[in-house]
Amino acid sequence: MATDLEQELAELLEVETFPPSDEFRSAASISDDAVREEAERDPAAWWLEQARALDWFAQPSQSLDDTDPPFYKWFADGTLNASVNCLDRHVDAGLGDRVAFHWRGEEGEERDITYAQLLADVQRFANALKSRGIGRGDVVGIFLPMIPEVVVAMLACARIGAPHNVVFGGFSPESVKERMDFSDARALVTVDGARRKGRTAPIKAAVDEIGVDVETIFVVRHTGIDCPMGERDVFYDEALAAADAVCEPEQLPAEHPLYILYSSGSTAKPKGILHTTGGYLTHVAWTHRYVFDLKAPSDVYWCSADVGWVTGHSYIVYGPLANGCTSVMYEGAPDYPDKDIWWELCERYGVTIFYTAPTAIRACMKWGEQYPGRHDLSALRLLGTVGEPINPKAWLWYHKVIGGERCPIVDTWWQTETGAIMITTLPGVQQTKPGSAGTPLPAIAARVVDDSGEEVPRDTQGLLTLTRPWPGMLRTLYKDDDRFVATYWEKFGPQTYFVGDAARRDDDGYLWVIGRVDDVLNVSGHRMSTAEIESAIVSHPKVAEAAVIGQTDEDTGQSVAAFVTLEGELEGSDELVAEIRDHVAARIGKLARPKRIIWSDDLPKTRSGKIMRRLLRDIAEGRELGDVTTLRDPDVMAKLEGRVKELQAEEG
Ligand code: PRX
Repeated sequence: MATDLEQELAELLEVETFPPSDEFRSAASISDDAVREEAERDPAAWWLEQARALDWFAQPSQSLDDTDPPFYKWFADGTLNASVNCLDRHVDAGLGDRVAFHWRGEEGEERDITYAQLLADVQRFANALKSRGIGRGDVVGIFLPMIPEVVVAMLACARIGAPHNVVFGGFSPESVKERMDFSDARALVTVDGARRKGRTAPIKAAVDEIGVDVETIFVVRHTGIDCPMGERDVFYDEALAAADAVCEPEQLPAEHPLYILYSSGSTAKPKGILHTTGGYLTHVAWTHRYVFDLKAPSDVYWCSADVGWVTGHSYIVYGPLANGCTSVMYEGAPDYPDKDIWWELCERYGVTIFYTAPTAIRACMKWGEQYPGRHDLSALRLLGTVGEPINPKAWLWYHKVIGGERCPIVDTWWQTETGAIMITTLPGVQQTKPGSAGTPLPAIAARVVDDSGEEVPRDTQGLLTLTRPWPGMLRTLYKDDDRFVATYWEKFGPQTYFVGDAARRDDDGYLWVIGRVDDVLNVSGHRMSTAEIESAIVSHPKVAEAAVIGQTDEDTGQSVAAFVTLEGELEGSDELVAEIRDHVAARIGKLARPKRIIWSDDLPKTRSGKIMRRLLRDIAEGRELGDVTTLRDPDVMAKLEGRVKELQAEEG
């Protein structure tokens, strides 16, 4: 028999639209279409107005410079510093005692870090970086867990104009090495060890073992685990203690690089997405304030992402701090020490705005409503999601069980490349539809087109494009302008940004994002490249060839499935499955490990030798096979189909 909750969710599935309550609307910062209309009249002028919410050393007089597309510039004659906007101006305004982060450690430790404390540490660490010869334009790598020092390190870099290159803590040391090499990083900030669910992993030792090629490594002492230190290494706390307390911020042009963030593309080499200062900060601050309807200081905001992804950069660090907001930062996993930890923290800190990923919501849904049920979540007034399409059932569960049916849900569509939110609903104005991100934000323009760039009719699937430059946009791929142009601007020309997602637009203009159209996977809202995983698998000595596809997965959205051809043998053992999975974890990170490995003595290839992933996807999803006549050896498909069926039978 269906439980009451299941029954209620089933009834809600019939509801197609959810308007904001009158109460929410009447208190919202934006509650009508005036802003959108004003932005539409002159988008560039409107953005320049929004940029004035920042503190500038020299106010910009220019908005968009589109004289050399697709190399767009924003606010180019202005000068500013991101750390000043995130810290000094709040402290100067007398808000130094405001908590920037309620930090909670995995073992229950708590630290409240105020804006004044952050500023003090940032200045000292900026001086420590300088004392090691780091200055404007030098890249600094950051490989840290979710601890306050990660924010200090990022803002210290921003203060001296050194672009940071953060690597997500779940990536392997080998990925760190690769990303430091690609970006010519001069220094790395890392940690003695990282904690995960009661265990401590040595990080500095692992980084040493792989031999990361930088001049200086700063090491945060976090867990006290044994940690080898060499000549080039310095403990973060000692560097801070030895440094001067005052570091004047660099006055940087708006287009000065703020950071590089590597993200997966459709080849094995990750792309170094480059963001600059003035436009990015304007866009993240605006969206953080208005999409989340932020009312500092009364709101307590929590974005549960990791700072190593773009969501963490934009909506844990730069957006919230630029807006002087109080946030929660949590070091650990959502199910440690127990599956109610998130809700315990929401209650404890009185979280009012909560932003997470659909995959996390699905996990919570699976664990059951008794966990949130243990806590008082009545302070919550707005919920958000990001990273992948959300299925209506998970949306409704979030709405009902977490939001108590009173909180609007903003489903925010954006990418590492866009820097900030592009498509969503303004919560005090627009109704929401479970499963649709919403409409382009004010001043943002999107079109769904066919392969030739023609707009497709309503309710027809096509390719999502962005047809107007926006301030948070990536400026290039680090040291690879050609790949930047080829990836995003060649298909439809330098005025139309090619997103890489399929979508459709409904009669109300709401966009329904369907998923990627390239060889990029989305596993738990994290971007992976099939080519990158294939190249990791193939580097295993027993493997001859591999093809990776994304398979629909009810927990993680997609999961990694690998078709693997071995050297010599036809079929591998269970031990070899484990070995290959470990091998991928060591090369890229645990999150890239294939969930399934399917042995295959051959792969479906065209006569020119190209692997047809489309057919592999059909097999894995149990669909009717598409056209196989172009295959070199059509028999391969029948064998593979048999193997997948066997595997599915074994898995039950
Ligand atoms: O496919 C879209 C999906 O995630 C991709 C961007 O991934 P990444 O650069 O890692 O950034 C994730 C966090 C901003 C997009 O191309 N995506 C992101 N948000 C949504 C989404 N798909 C549907 N709905 C969303 N809200």
